[in-house]
Amino acid sequence: MKDVDKINTGFFNTPIHKLNNISKEYNCNIYIKRDDMTGFAFGGNKLRKLNYLLKDALDKGCDTLLTYGGPQTNHGRLTASVAVRYGMKCIIIMDGKKPEEASGNLILDKMMNADLYFVEEIDSKDEIKDRVIEKYEKKGHKVYEIPVGGSSTLGILGYFDAVKEINQQTKDMKLELDYIVCGYGSAGTYGGLVLGKKYFKNNYNVIGICVSNKSENQIEEDRKYMNNSADEFDMNIKINEEDLWIEKGFVGEGYNIPDNKTREIIYYVASKEGIILDPCYTGKAFNGMLQLIRDKRIKPDSNILFIHTGGTPGIYIKEHLEHIKKELW
Ligand SMILES: Cc1ncc(COP(=O)(O)O)c(C=O)c1O
Repeated sequence: MKDVDKINTGFFNTPIHKLNNISKEYNCNIYIKRDDMTGFAFGGNKLRKLNYLLKDALDKGCDTLLTYGGPQTNHGRLTASVAVRYGMKCIIIMDGKKPEEASGNLILDKMMNADLYFVEEIDSKDEIKDRVIEKYEKKGHKVYEIPVGGSSTLGILGYFDAVKEINQQTKDMKLELDYIVCGYGSAGTYGGLVLGKKYFKNNYNVIGICVSNKSENQIEEDRKYMNNSADEFDMNIKINEEDLWIEKGFVGEGYNIPDNKTREIIYYVASKEGIILDPCYTGKAFNGMLQLIRDKRIKPDSNILFIHTGGTPGIYIKEHLEHIKKELW
């Protein structure tokens, strides 16, 4: 495989530890990898992708990181955290209208001086993008574009790398994993884990829990994306349909829409383990994992690693917080 350089934008390795109380209740050994502890701006999975993307941006002489996402993008927040540390500008183009009230990630983006642009109905994302890039280039900046979620063929290497880390950590712990479970959005996290698993010939299953409604076509596109990365970096592997285990049944009401079941899981994990999940990604992924255990699709007594991909500022997003306060206060 090709050697690809990166810059560590966070604290790695992240810890792995057992969730003792929940494991007992579910007759399984559930471990958690704390990618919520990557260290900056409340942490999360995106720093692993940014390790590669930042290096590429600097190599290309860029001084501005431009990325995309929903108004509460965690990826945007972490891109902003990288930009300030490396003396760069961060631009986030967000889908949808500017929310009337700032909450959650939006406040953190502003604290870190990110420039935010909202795609209003009259404009297309591409029109805004072209105008924004032109505006910054006229001022002498060189813009590096990062796709939604940092999920480019290069960004996916962040979670390919995480497999190496997990393999070493579990070896040291004398732990043989049967399953890895994570949230599945723009596919960079899940895709990287699947590529790593296949490349290193690990025996465990990698389960992706959808956080938004995905069609079979989109999943097929994501599989192509994984294979494009494998080809680009000479991994000499091919991801086939049977390599993927994707669960679609835990999206709830839709992407980032508050729902009771996800909040119930967030409260459960907080009350049993002192770990805070988020309402958009990890709450749903954890819910999916527990249901698979109850349904015995994850076998009893098995060793499971749940990836806590971060997203905790999501608790403080106005729409989620209103429900949380009503339920807990
Ligand atoms: C906290 C969190 N978890 C999981 C994901 C999903 O990761 P991916 O987009 O790589 O599929 C995201 C993506 O935004 C995220 O912010």
